[in-house]
Amino acid sequence: MLFMISYFRYLSAHSQAAGLAALLAVSSCNQSTPAEQTAATSPSMTDTTQTTAATAPVSASFGQTQDGTEVQLYTLTNGHGLKVSITNYGGTITSLLVPDKAGKPGEIVLGFADVSGYQSPEFRKAGPYFGALIGRYGNRIAKGRFTLDGQEYTLAKNNGENTLHGGKIGFDKVIWQAEPGTSAEGQTLKLTYLSKDGEEGYPGNLSVTVVYTLTADDTLKIDYSATTDKATPVNLTNHAYFNLSGGKDVLGHEVTIAADRYNVVDAGLIPTGELRPVKGTPFDFTTPHTIGERIAQVPGGYDHNWLLNPAAGQPAATVYEPTTGRTMQVSTTEPGLQFYTGNFLDGTLKGAKGQVYGKHAGFCMETQHFPDSPNQPTFPSTILKPGQTLKSTTIYKFGVRQ
Ligand code: GLA
Repeated sequence: MLFMISYFRYLSAHSQAAGLAALLAVSSCNQSTPAEQTAATSPSMTDTTQTTAATAPVSASFGQTQDGTEVQLYTLTNGHGLKVSITNYGGTITSLLVPDKAGKPGEIVLGFADVSGYQSPEFRKAGPYFGALIGRYGNRIAKGRFTLDGQEYTLAKNNGENTLHGGKIGFDKVIWQAEPGTSAEGQTLKLTYLSKDGEEGYPGNLSVTVVYTLTADDTLKIDYSATTDKATPVNLTNHAYFNLSGGKDVLGHEVTIAADRYNVVDAGLIPTGELRPVKGTPFDFTTPHTIGERIAQVPGGYDHNWLLNPAAGQPAATVYEPTTGRTMQVSTTEPGLQFYTGNFLDGTLKGAKGQVYGKHAGFCMETQHFPDSPNQPTFPSTILKPGQTLKSTTIYKFGVRQ
C-alpha cells in the first residue's frame, strides 16, 4: 500500500505517465502482496517445485570482528548445485556457487574467506560493500540532509559531501540476528536488525527483517520488511558483485534492462531530477548489449539508476555470459535498478582464492528506489511511517544457455 500511494503521488506529479503506467501495472497497481507481485513479474516463481527442505542451512564460524564478536557463516544449498554463503556480519553474501553449462559449479560473486576481509583497512578505504545488505538508505542522499514533516535531519557524510549507503556504519557493517530455517521453497536465513532512533542521523527505531531463500528452481530470493516508530526514509538493497565468467572481467557479459528511462546524475552521482529516455544512448539495454560495448562512452563507467518498466511476466534485467553459458534474471518489486560496473575497484583487494579484484571485476544490480528520493518530491516516496510495513522482494534466478 505504501508503494501504491508513492506511485500515485509520483504519477500525479508527472505528465509523461505512460512509462510509469506500465511500471504501476507491474509493481504496484493492485492490492497483492510483494510476493505475489514478484510472482507476477517472474514466470520462474510460479513453477517453483514445492519441496520442503528437510534440513536447515549449516553454520560455521566466520571469525571474530575487530571488537571480538564471533560471527557466523550460513550455507544454503538447493540440491541442484547452487550454494550460497551468507554471514550475519552485514547480512553479506560471501559466496554463491552456480553451475556453468557443463554442470560445473563455480563462484559468481566477489567476497572474502572470513570476516577480517570485510574489516581490513583496504576494504574500508575502498568501500565496495561486497555482497552486503544496504541501509537504512541505499544509494546517496545529497549533502547528507533532508527535511521531513518540517524538521531538518543531518546525516553522517561518507561520500564527499553526500551520504552513501546508510552513512559511516550502515547496515553492511552491523551484526544481524540470524535464524537459519526452511520453508516450502527451500532453505532460508532470516536476519533481523534494530536500527536505533538517531543512528547515523536517521529518525525512528527501525526494525528490519531480511529473509534469504535459496529455492529448488535455482533462485535466490530476498524478502525485505521494516517497521518504524517515527517517519523515516528507507531504501533497502543488496550489494552483491556478480561475475558469471569465472575469472575474467565483466565486460563480455550481455545485459538487458527493462527500462525506457534512467536518472540523469551530476558529478557527485546525485540525480538532477531529469528522467532521460535511454533510446539512442549507451544506457539503452532494452535489447541485449555487452557491458563493454559502449562503456567508454559513459564517463567513469555505468553507475546509474534505471526506471524499471518490465512487461508483465518479464524480468527487470537479464544477464548472459557466453563463455560459461550462465544466465541471471533479476525480478523485483522495486521501481529502480542501480547498475554499477565495479568502476572503483582497482586491484588492491583480493578474494578468498587470491583472485585480484580489479576494475570491472564484478557488476551490481541493486534493486531500490531512486537515489536522493528524500530530497526529490517528484520521485516515488521512500518515507516509511509508523503503522506501515515496508515490504519489498527481489529475486535472482540462475540458469544456463547451451
Ligand atoms: C554503489 C554506488 C557506487 C559505489 C558503489 C560502491 O553502487 O552507486 O557509486 O559507491 O556502490 O563502491
